[in-house]
Amino acid sequence: MAVNEEKKAKKQSDLSVLLGYTGSYRKLTYLGLFLSAIAMILGMAPYICIWLAARDLIAVAPDWTAASGISRYGVMAFVFAVSGIVVYFAALMCTHLAAFRTAGNIRKQGMEHLMKTPLGFFDSNASGLLRNRLDGAAAETETLLAHNLADIVGTITMFVSMLVLMFVFDWRMGAACLLAALISVISLYSMMGGKNASLMAEYQAAQDVMSKAGTEYVRGIPVVKVFQQTVYSFKAFRQAIEDYSTKAERYTDGVCRTPQAVNLTFTEAAFVFLVPAALLLAPGALAGGNLTVFITNFAFYAVFSAVVSTALAKIMFSASGMMLASTALGRINLVMSAPTLEVTANPKKPKDNSVTFRDVSFTYDGAELPALDHVSFKVKPGETVALVGPSGGGKTTAASLIPRFWDVTSGSVEVGGVDVRQTDPHVLMDQVAFVFQNNHLFKASILDNVRAARPDASREEVAAALSAAQCDDILAKLPDGMDTVLGSKGTYLSGGEQQRVALARAILKDAPIVVLDEATAFADPENEALIQKAFAVLTRGRTVIMIAHRLSTVVGADQIIVLDAGHVVESGTHEALVNGNGLYARMWADYNRAVQWRIASEGEAE
Ligand SMILES: Nc1ncnc2c1ncn2[C@@H]1O[C@H](COP(=O)(O)OP(=O)(O)OP(=O)(O)O)[C@@H](O)[C@H]1O
Ligand SMILES: [Mg+2]
Repeated sequence: MAVNEEKKAKKQSDLSVLLGYTGSYRKLTYLGLFLSAIAMILGMAPYICIWLAARDLIAVAPDWTAASGISRYGVMAFVFAVSGIVVYFAALMCTHLAAFRTAGNIRKQGMEHLMKTPLGFFDSNASGLLRNRLDGAAAETETLLAHNLADIVGTITMFVSMLVLMFVFDWRMGAACLLAALISVISLYSMMGGKNASLMAEYQAAQDVMSKAGTEYVRGIPVVKVFQQTVYSFKAFRQAIEDYSTKAERYTDGVCRTPQAVNLTFTEAAFVFLVPAALLLAPGALAGGNLTVFITNFAFYAVFSAVVSTALAKIMFSASGMMLASTALGRINLVMSAPTLEVTANPKKPKDNSVTFRDVSFTYDGAELPALDHVSFKVKPGETVALVGPSGGGKTTAASLIPRFWDVTSGSVEVGGVDVRQTDPHVLMDQVAFVFQNNHLFKASILDNVRAARPDASREEVAAALSAAQCDDILAKLPDGMDTVLGSKGTYLSGGEQQRVALARAILKDAPIVVLDEATAFADPENEALIQKAFAVLTRGRTVIMIAHRLSTVVGADQIIVLDAGHVVESGTHEALVNGNGLYARMWADYNRAVQWRIASEGEAE
């Protein structure tokens, strides 16, 4: 019971949430719904005309020629039918217009909201996926607003007016007509409530699992082929399919079969109780001498039982639209409830180009352990500080807190002596340049990719930045030079080349603080040397925080901070740490052994 009530409350709020998105088109929506109600009444009028004609015929029977008004009813029926269609068309025009605008509003509001969410949010929720989700869900609400809602209102109008009409002439026959409708509605609801609802949820969940397993399977095919694991990997997918078919069978066979059969039977055969009721009532009418009235009434209900069927079918159809829109709204809500960054009302200006971590802790949403645990360090203006440590130590996380990809859980990150949360986001973005671990190059020309850092930069400035980032050889081999669109005509850049383009972007940005998250993948020696050169240009005279996997690049850093499992375990210069006999000294020894081994094996190969 409680569950049912909860569901009802949710349904209502779904609709009001959706109407909330209509904005200035709310009145148009209501107009559309009102017209739809009028159209429905007009649509019922021809049935009444038919019945009036039947009544006249019955009154004069068997002298048919005496029924002179028949053709007038015919014309009226025609006029009503046509005007019903015209008004319905106008209603749909209104609701469609409102629906498109509403979907547009949802997309716009969703995108505006996403603009305010921390950038890190997109890392864990692929931005394309989010956009698709928003787009798809907005489109799904269109059907509800444009069609289903109008139909629901129309059907309710039809039901109410029918209810009135039903009881105007002979309530007993009216009740007989409604009994069939009642049975079919009850059987429909029995399919959805209580334990059956949980079975349906299980069925839908299994469907979800199956589609995910399918995607995983397809995505994993290359790996599977390489490792000859076809049978094993197919197992999970197969299991999901089997699970789905069991649950689907349980739901359709166990839950739906009987109610569905009952529902369909009584929807199609609304007259099934009318005929026995009429037969029972006929002797009384005959005795009372008002047989004509009785037959006329019977004709009325016989005609209207057909309308009952149509109305029921429409309700069923609209209910499924309601369900679809409800899940769509759920998905929209997921986007709209994404966390947003707080923007301060009175921003403070950073005083210099220092970066300070003050007792910073950070835990990712849903993670049990903090990725950073009471981390403190200071980078003075112009200094180069390296973050090193084992994989998963928290280096990338620490770097992403500086431009507020995420906000700290406790403690504070300061740029220029001001908490980043107290800084104007634009000022902060201008102050920090980022080179990510996985370079984010867009499917656009190299020019546009680099220019993303500073949209007002001239072509020459971009060219200079590319040149400073040692990209001349890349441009030389591309068909359209700087205007070559990446990913088109088979132009793909290697990892090392991508890094240099990303460095050009950071050079063009010309920000006083540079955060560099070095890619783990080894570039070839030639690329490596070019990257080092580009890096030297980028970092000259700036405050640098670099995350290095090749320890050779950090030897010259002013300070090295060793992060392990979210803790600062050591810090100091290379010399001090190597002599310290701690984690860094061990990493350094391992690194050298690896380099020796590489040189040795290369020597052997020659
Ligand atoms: N988006 C995320 N959501 C949840 N947990 C994350 C996320 N990104 C990283 N983590 C977790 O936070 C911890 C620190 O990860 P981080 O990426 O900062 O390590 P790292 O030192 O940069 O590692 P690597 O050297 O491999 O790049 C890890 O345990 C990781 O699993
Ligand atoms: Mg990392």
